[in-house]
Amino acid sequence: MLAGQTEEGLRAKVKLLLGVAGVTLALAACGDQGDLPQNSLDPQGPIARDIDDLWNLVFWIAVVVFVLVQGALLVAIFRFRARKGDEERKIRQLHGNTRLEVLWTIIPAVLLAVLVVPTVSVLFDIREEPTGDDVLRINVTGHQWWWEFEYPEGFHTANEMHIPAGRDVYLTMTSADVIHSFWVPALNGKRDVVPGRFQNLTLNADNPTPPGEPLFGQCAEFCGLAHADMRIKVFVDDEEGFAAWADNQAQPAVIPTEGLAADGWGTFTRVCSACHAVAGTDAELRLAPDLTHFASRTTFGGATFENTTEHLSEWLRNPSALKPMAPDLNDLAATPPRVLGMPDFGLDNAEIRGLVALLEGWD
Ligand code: CUA
Repeated sequence: MLAGQTEEGLRAKVKLLLGVAGVTLALAACGDQGDLPQNSLDPQGPIARDIDDLWNLVFWIAVVVFVLVQGALLVAIFRFRARKGDEERKIRQLHGNTRLEVLWTIIPAVLLAVLVVPTVSVLFDIREEPTGDDVLRINVTGHQWWWEFEYPEGFHTANEMHIPAGRDVYLTMTSADVIHSFWVPALNGKRDVVPGRFQNLTLNADNPTPPGEPLFGQCAEFCGLAHADMRIKVFVDDEEGFAAWADNQAQPAVIPTEGLAADGWGTFTRVCSACHAVAGTDAELRLAPDLTHFASRTTFGGATFENTTEHLSEWLRNPSALKPMAPDLNDLAATPPRVLGMPDFGLDNAEIRGLVALLEGWD
């Protein structure tokens, strides 16, 4: 016992520690699957399942090792602890135990050797480029702070990705600015997205996601102010649904000629087209999300805000009030242009209403 500490004091401390540990464990058990959308222990496809199986193998081996080692420790503590009347007892002094030391060196070495085989095999498997005519290839570009997805038909979307169930989707990813990391835990591990390089990642989902319940993902490499708001939603469609979605996305935007939306188009060409592209028009710059089918997306602003009239109006009034960004540092004349968020353009109510009408018409 430590000097100056009564036995009661020590007992109280141990009780407090056990209590805190208990409450922490109990709280950690709160919440169900719906509260944990980014859970890599709930794989939704074959690649994520390979990773999960590997995790389970390592976990259960670790549990056995933990129980054996802690059990031996507890036996040693309680069986050989000092008892009343032991003061006089002579303790046998030992130095080294060759048999024990060899054993506890060999057992971990064998365990690691066993684990390395499935680990390396899964690592190589999930990195292999999928082959076949039905592989869907999507180019991914990370931007501060949103994701751009380019489909084989040439259309672009932002933050929300649609993929067909049961098919390999091969991503080729790069960054327009700093290092990001693409991570949809239900479908695969993380992969860094690095400027000047092209990294690959394969996604494959078993089943279509229920309407309105996409798989969630997140940028997993700190990339500045709105890193936490650089999210991903993956909608898994059946073949028919995916084909219909892609067909619609490939259509150019319809430019309104009358009403509020036509006024909105006027504002768009004056203000927004400096950064946003719209297919079928002169707005071709991709410094910000392509807005061709903006209304078909359920969210915007890095998949952070539900795509409602209210949120959109708020965004147009002052984007940085919704999502932390640094548009003061934008430099469109730089090579490459630097865009760190959408500025507050000081739009008046009529201009905002017009832009909302325009964007909501682009489904
Ligand atoms: Cu992009 Cu963090």
